[in-house]
Amino acid sequence: MQESGSDKPIGYTVGENSSDRFTFVVSDISEVSKWEYIFAAIGKRKVIGRIEKVVSRSDLLNQDMDFTSVKKYVDTDLADHVFLCQAKSLGSVEGDSLMLSRKIIPPGSPVWRASQDLLESHLSYPEERSLYIGHLVDRNDVRLSVDINGLKRHLAILAQTGAGKSNAAAVLMEELLKKGASIIVLDPHADYALMRTGKSGARYASDIRIFRTPLSSGRYNSQTGTISSLFTLRFQDLEPDEISDIMGIKEDWSTLRRIVADIHNNMKPPRDLAAFLSAHKELNGEDSSKISGRIRILMKISNIFSDSTTPMDEYLSPGQLSILDLSGMDQALSNYFAHRVLNTIYESKVEANEGFPVFVFVEEAHNFVPPGSRTLIAQMLRKIASEGRKFGMFLVVISQRPGKLDQDVLSQCNSAIILRITNPLDQKAIMESSESLSESMLQDLPSLNIGEAVLTGEFVRIPVIAAIRKRETAEGGGDVDLISLLREARKIRDQRKNPSGFKKSLKEGW
Ligand SMILES: Nc1ncnc2c1ncn2[C@@H]1O[C@H](COP(=O)(O)OP(=O)(O)OP(=O)(O)O)[C@@H](O)[C@H]1O
Ligand SMILES: [Mg+2]
Repeated sequence: MQESGSDKPIGYTVGENSSDRFTFVVSDISEVSKWEYIFAAIGKRKVIGRIEKVVSRSDLLNQDMDFTSVKKYVDTDLADHVFLCQAKSLGSVEGDSLMLSRKIIPPGSPVWRASQDLLESHLSYPEERSLYIGHLVDRNDVRLSVDINGLKRHLAILAQTGAGKSNAAAVLMEELLKKGASIIVLDPHADYALMRTGKSGARYASDIRIFRTPLSSGRYNSQTGTISSLFTLRFQDLEPDEISDIMGIKEDWSTLRRIVADIHNNMKPPRDLAAFLSAHKELNGEDSSKISGRIRILMKISNIFSDSTTPMDEYLSPGQLSILDLSGMDQALSNYFAHRVLNTIYESKVEANEGFPVFVFVEEAHNFVPPGSRTLIAQMLRKIASEGRKFGMFLVVISQRPGKLDQDVLSQCNSAIILRITNPLDQKAIMESSESLSESMLQDLPSLNIGEAVLTGEFVRIPVIAAIRKRETAEGGGDVDLISLLREARKIRDQRKNPSGFKKSLKEGW
């Protein structure tokens, strides 16, 4: 008897089979359905597969026959038919291990239904190294976990917008937190700013800190004091190049950088922002007018400066998830903050030569590290991608534009969660960066539902399609709540059109 729980195979392989696909005949069509998981037994080896197509076929009743001839055969009971299933090979079980299937399956091999036990035991990992992320697609009974060790060589979460990237990232954060990981999240749209709220958030709240700046535009203003802390900078702590970065002056704009350095040199005590602005006023006319636009930017964001710079031990601590809400900033300023935090951590890790593992989640990674970008944050992310694991820093890059993400960083990600993607250019970028993704898996990407993902690379035994679980913690904080905004807009419109009626309806409502 096989794992199927029945003593009879459901079918036998027939015709031409390759290592990728096999076809089998079944006696009873009601016993099988599309997307079901099965395995073909070849001696002691089992090749696990998934049914992609179920067809019926007749050699006698072919498409060239007319109605009368077909009817004659049917009435005399001579008509033949077979039911065929076409399956895609997922992996081959040999002893305790599961590997990509490369061997041909001979015709006549028995095919059995794959049991929960067989699938779970070969797809999951021992508890201490596993992150539970959902179940096998179309098999709610088969829990799926990924291997923490696989994250040593970084992870990419890729999909088009709305497919479930942030949800998948939050699921991983929750699981990593349970395992005691330190996590830093670069969050440009305040997608994670509400993770401490609600019933489920309360369970994680003591391990999560949300850092916002006075510029944050996340939708959680009424609760800011209670759920988040302010991330601040002390102007006196900044080098001239950092001030230039904050002002959005590019690395190669050497004249403007030189002017900032001159102003910085001429500052009087206490060398704070006010002193910097006074020193600017003393510049000669030409330099002053060249830099004046940038000075206006600095004045606009002046409230990010305070009496102290948030120290590293506030945002880096064993088992703590720190979310850096970068909403409300332009890209240059986000880059500066992101670089400041990651560089501080990187240097401390290099100095300590490892220490606790730190996972860095980068939302909208294509904006921080576009192809060939030479900004400090891009260089930092490339450095973490190529050398971070030596010091215990691991990247999780999240992007809806994999084609616009630096390909060096993407190809250093040896694991990937790929949700729905329909754009062929983005599919091509993924294909080129991922060795373990086959052409046939690529074909699955456009047809995935929200939350369904191809998992591939070092953190899974074989590439599989998962239905990722819903995150436990609250989502959003940055997204526009379109429905309630429209409700507000309708109220205001009604009020404008009919002020007395509006008052009456309010009264009735009370
Ligand atoms: N696995 C899932 N199970 C149930 N709902 C999900 C799942 N994944 C995503 N969703 C829902 O789909 C919506 C979009 O998900 P999410 O915000 O994670 O997508 P995204 O890819 O990050 O989108 P964007 O590109 O806009 O950032 C959300 O409302 C989320 O609750
Ligand atoms: Mg998102």
